[in-house]
Amino acid sequence: MTYVGTPTSRVDGRAKVTGTAKYAGEFSPDGLVHGFVVEATITCGRIVRLDTSEALQVKGVLDVLTHSHRPPLADNDEAWKDEVAPEGSPFRPLYDDSIKFNGQPIALVVADDWETAKFAATLVRVEYEQQAFTTDLEAERGNAAETDKPHKPRGNVATALAGAAVRHEADYVLPTEHHNPMELYASTVVWEGDGRLAVYDKTQGVQNVQKFLCSVFDKKPEDLRVLSPYVGGAFGSGLRPQYQVVLATLAALALKRSVRVVLTRQQMYGLGYRPMTIERVTLGANPDGTLDAVTHEAIAITSRYEDFARNDTGWAEQLYKSPNTRFSHKLVHVDVSTPCDMRAPGAASGVCALECAMDELAIALRLDPIELRLKCYSDRDQSEDLPYTSKQLRECYARGAEAFGWSRRNPTPRSTRDGKELVGWGMATGVWEALQMPVAVRIVLTSNGHAEVSCAASDIGTGTYTIVAQVAADALGLPIENIDVKLGDSSLPQAPVEGGSWMAASSAHAVLGAAEDIRQELARLAKALPGSPLADSPLADVILVDGMIAGKGEKSRAVSMADAMRYGKLERIEKQKLNQFAEDDSHARNTHSAVFAEVKVDEQLGVIRVTRVVSAVAAGRILNTKTGRSQIIGSVVWGIGMALHEETVMDHRFGRTMNPNIADYHIPVNADIHNIDVIFIPERDDFINRLGVKGLGEIGIVGVPAAIANAVYHATGKRVRRFPITLDKLIA
Ligand code: MOS
Repeated sequence: MTYVGTPTSRVDGRAKVTGTAKYAGEFSPDGLVHGFVVEATITCGRIVRLDTSEALQVKGVLDVLTHSHRPPLADNDEAWKDEVAPEGSPFRPLYDDSIKFNGQPIALVVADDWETAKFAATLVRVEYEQQAFTTDLEAERGNAAETDKPHKPRGNVATALAGAAVRHEADYVLPTEHHNPMELYASTVVWEGDGRLAVYDKTQGVQNVQKFLCSVFDKKPEDLRVLSPYVGGAFGSGLRPQYQVVLATLAALALKRSVRVVLTRQQMYGLGYRPMTIERVTLGANPDGTLDAVTHEAIAITSRYEDFARNDTGWAEQLYKSPNTRFSHKLVHVDVSTPCDMRAPGAASGVCALECAMDELAIALRLDPIELRLKCYSDRDQSEDLPYTSKQLRECYARGAEAFGWSRRNPTPRSTRDGKELVGWGMATGVWEALQMPVAVRIVLTSNGHAEVSCAASDIGTGTYTIVAQVAADALGLPIENIDVKLGDSSLPQAPVEGGSWMAASSAHAVLGAAEDIRQELARLAKALPGSPLADSPLADVILVDGMIAGKGEKSRAVSMADAMRYGKLERIEKQKLNQFAEDDSHARNTHSAVFAEVKVDEQLGVIRVTRVVSAVAAGRILNTKTGRSQIIGSVVWGIGMALHEETVMDHRFGRTMNPNIADYHIPVNADIHNIDVIFIPERDDFINRLGVKGLGEIGIVGVPAAIANAVYHATGKRVRRFPITLDKLIA
């Protein structure tokens, strides 16, 4: 293969850096008008009076939509459920007078320009009837209700813990975090006449949004197309249709013209987020350092109207050998909006707690943290008792440790200094799923040796355009410059939301399927060509290489694609294929990593710097070592944010977020990021799929917060279990 497995530059890189790549809020059809959202300032209750008269008098204001002044919206829960909706009753913007969370949209001011809409929004007068509310997970911990997620206990935990030689038990508290992608939530709805709409939306799934809008607005799919050619980061925030797309569509239908709604950074804090969780982990060990008992209980926040729960505890269930285990996942329903997926949902939080607990246990056992993990290493998935399709985690530990210099670590906390700074080294394990989903791809090959490859999937910045081009170029035997990839359009062949790290494997295999059909057609034509040098070659031995149709291993026996197509009187060959993965639950499918972190902590000020991270990742075949490395670096940066910076702070007296902006909500900036070394561990996987691809989007963050927390302990001798680890907690 020429391109697969190589550090290929992004095929959309030039468009992105030169600004020709257009995002949802950048399409400007004729007559475009702008909507600005008015948000509720109470947390729970109902709207008694909503007076828009003053706003409507502002010159340039066209309309103010409210729950009592708007086109019809579907009136049943089912119609509002998108393909990734959790259990419950989805939020419906501008539906009725009820207020379910602070910051809820209650009106949309539409004006000729955005500034006018924004100003007029300040003139919308609202009277509320307030009700008692609570937004505090910790205060409501006692009201947590068990979810019905399946948990398989093993053995007898109580007995094992009572008899354990060494025991560790602690709560790890992970705060609510908000997505802060560069691109704001944005939708531009183009009115195409007769009720037909083209919706440019910031989304991870155009067909999900299309189905959702069609059911909410009772539209036919042929009348409502959704596009997201480029996405400026999403990380889970664009999996579900967000409310601005409903509002923009509502306004377009009301005014019969094109409407754009872009949320402000502040308003984005009124939408989905990584839910705050209390992760309680108990570990019981035998004197030799093997595990005898593991319990993991997650208590997570959710809204009153939906049960959002992710897999926080399954990793502890699966990863390490332990005969006695118990797991549970509980939800606390409070007056907030529903959480949503955020990079490695469940794992980022759950594995953080597990891997901090493992570090604490290693210290209690006087064992090296890697040694402890090797003592309970499992070649089988412990929860399902299944073999893995592949698992090179041992290699991750070994190669990561070597690259980091782990053997030089003095295990004693506070033992290493660099000037005024205490130096700490910590490590942790990472784990994520290797999923694959049904995806269809269409390839149109033209006789000039160019191919258009298309699929509805969105490239959320992960590099889908590029890997699709790489796989297609190799499969069709064409230079990558001849491949034109079209993505992010609901009218293209089917794709689910881009998430869960499943799109690389899923789209790559759909490309292979369609390309195989093209190969067969070309091979048949080439063999039938009068005087063909391939006449005697079996069909299966005819390959596409260097723009030619050739005999396998005998490039000299070849026919040009153009000749074959001319012979067949074909200008183009079009094939569409749905990828096919055999249903098979005989193996566990996971990616793994070992993360090593060095921190330097100013002893007097408590300032923490993450000076080095080594992430050794085993994720099957890496389709593109350049974009793949970028994926992991980005994830490590977020892991640094999770460990040290990010926290959505709520004032529970008002149920309101106090830091809804990236001045007060801290995310790592360039000065926070130092050396990040990514090592891809060779991991051949002949079982999982033809190419042995597992996916990389999420594994990179898992384990990073714990590795840093463990390094902070090693540097300072102080264990912080409430994230983020800010300097006040260190010097307190
Ligand atoms: Mo990912 S959190 O499934 O976008």
